[in-house]
Amino acid sequence: MELGPEIIDSLELKFSALARRKNQSGEKIISFGLGEPDFPTPPPVVEAAVEAMRNGHTRYSNPLGLWELRERICEKLERENGIHAQPDQIVVTPGAKMALSLVLGALLRPGDEIVNITPCYPSYVPQIKIAEPAARIRNIDLLKKNFGLNRDALASAIHPNVKAVLLNFPHNPTGKMLSAADLDWLVTLLADHRDCFVISDEIYERLNHSGMRHVSPGAREELALRTITINGFSKAFSMTGWRIGYLYAPESLIRPISRLQQHMNTNTATFVQKAAIAAFDISSEYLDDYNARLDRNARVLRSMAERHSTLGLVPSEGGLFAFLRISGTGMDSDAFATNLLEHAGVAATPGIVFGREWGDHVRISLAIEPSEFEEGVHRLDAFVRSRC
Ligand SMILES: Cc1ncc(COP(=O)(O)O)c(C=O)c1O
Repeated sequence: MELGPEIIDSLELKFSALARRKNQSGEKIISFGLGEPDFPTPPPVVEAAVEAMRNGHTRYSNPLGLWELRERICEKLERENGIHAQPDQIVVTPGAKMALSLVLGALLRPGDEIVNITPCYPSYVPQIKIAEPAARIRNIDLLKKNFGLNRDALASAIHPNVKAVLLNFPHNPTGKMLSAADLDWLVTLLADHRDCFVISDEIYERLNHSGMRHVSPGAREELALRTITINGFSKAFSMTGWRIGYLYAPESLIRPISRLQQHMNTNTATFVQKAAIAAFDISSEYLDDYNARLDRNARVLRSMAERHSTLGLVPSEGGLFAFLRISGTGMDSDAFATNLLEHAGVAATPGIVFGREWGDHVRISLAIEPSEFEEGVHRLDAFVRSRC
């Protein structure tokens, strides 16, 4: 397979590897650059995996996933998202990333177009191009002033060749959530484009520190038969290394997705699926506490940013991140992140990683222990003071 120019090394991973190396060499680095929570997996989940291994759940499972897990996922989708799913419309995958790859592989044909909202998760473009090298990507920027949907740009991008709109709310990297008004608007827009699918990546759904209500496109009757909902356990339950996620798709897509799964993954590790069942039984206090930490950190960052005329911050609403505007510092995001790491021992992710137009921002992870986060913000504050 020839890898096209869009399929580059993950710069995000490269940057956090650099921070890890500095840490290992004894420097105290505070990493705001991680794309994962800096918290341990809840002990009951770990216990469930160990018990499952001891009890022999070490063989292949149904390619779509364990029935019991798919039932729990359906219950969750019904209760929390208003999505009416059946277990045979769920596919459990090695991470939400693989769910997205399977969906793109099943959906895209040469010449198809896909609308992608930028800034975006850096794997989206490579994943689209791996699934279908001859697909055309229409990138639509969020509005710079408030990270809102650019309705005009989106409306003019939708036409008959567009196979899908790829959405990710709560959003990586801005922390923006989809408003009910924007979803209403999207439903109306897509009413005239009945062949256009919506792929809704909701991996950050349960991290919602502003209390704003999460809305799922798949819950809307008009979109129900053409929305694929992707979710997982990585972010909400600190299970990034376990590799487990899932998708819910309309019946018409399940057959091709299932075939891809059979030949690419066979199934998701069986004992990991057992552990994911245990994640559904974690008390809601766990997520309340997690969201309270995110909220606390978001406030600390905001009050620091407000003290600097060279910085700008649109408050994040959900997910793990805040996207800090650094254009007033005179540095681009690469120079800012490199200097911040070198001179202040703080790792942040350059905005350019998330899209060509976003080199005037850096992404800050909020999922850090509050005392550590405060120290990092203090260093960031001193760095901006000394440099700008
Ligand atoms: C928007 C988005 N989707 C999907 C993923 C991948 O999730 P997983 O680790 O479950 O594959 C990430 C990870 O950073 C992400 O930010």
